[in-house]
Amino acid sequence: MKLKRSLITGMLFALTATWATAHAIEPAPNGIAFPEGYQDWRVISVSHRTDNHTMRVILGNDIAIAASRNNQTLPWPDGTILGKVVWKEKAEQSWPTAIAPDKFVHAEFMVKDSKKWAKQDGWGYARWVGEELKPFGENTDFAQQCIACHTPVKNNDWVFTTPAKLAFPE
Ligand code: HEC
Repeated sequence: MKLKRSLITGMLFALTATWATAHAIEPAPNGIAFPEGYQDWRVISVSHRTDNHTMRVILGNDIAIAASRNNQTLPWPDGTILGKVVWKEKAEQSWPTAIAPDKFVHAEFMVKDSKKWAKQDGWGYARWVGEELKPFGENTDFAQQCIACHTPVKNNDWVFTTPAKLAFPE
């Protein structure tokens, strides 16, 4: 009986440990935590890169969506998180001229906190790679790559995306 109980306890422990490993996503090297629930955020825009054959959706948390709908994106307010999810592209099976998402490449985020990230003009950067969502970068220097490539849009609060025009009843 005692043995049975410890066996059950052991199994429960193993299950909990597996669950915890499966769900614990490491933070980025600069300490930014993985934005849980990003898959439920709303769409700001989409893009398709013809040079490396990837499709992207640009998402925002509630603060970002409110800012984009009210045209208050210069600068984006504190609390904004912009997300970008990237997939390899493929031709839609039953309609090959339609380009659709295939393999998940990465999800990356820009987090606005004008105090915390003052040295980076208010933005913290983070990326998680592959379906296993492995944090990108060996150390905090990784963000320099993000910043370097986003420099052409420095005067647009470091953001490339223009929110896509939407038609909806007020
Ligand atoms: C080689 C250039 C390049 C690098 C490096 C880069 N980005 Fe971007 N990023 C872009 C471009 C171009 C866009 C516009 C959307 C698109 O078409 O992909 C963009 C868009 C984004 C967006 C959506 C908001 C916006 O600016 O439009 C986020 C979030 C983002 N990048 C995060 C990152 C993070 C985090 C890193 C570093 C880990 C990074 N980027 C590195 C070029 C780059």
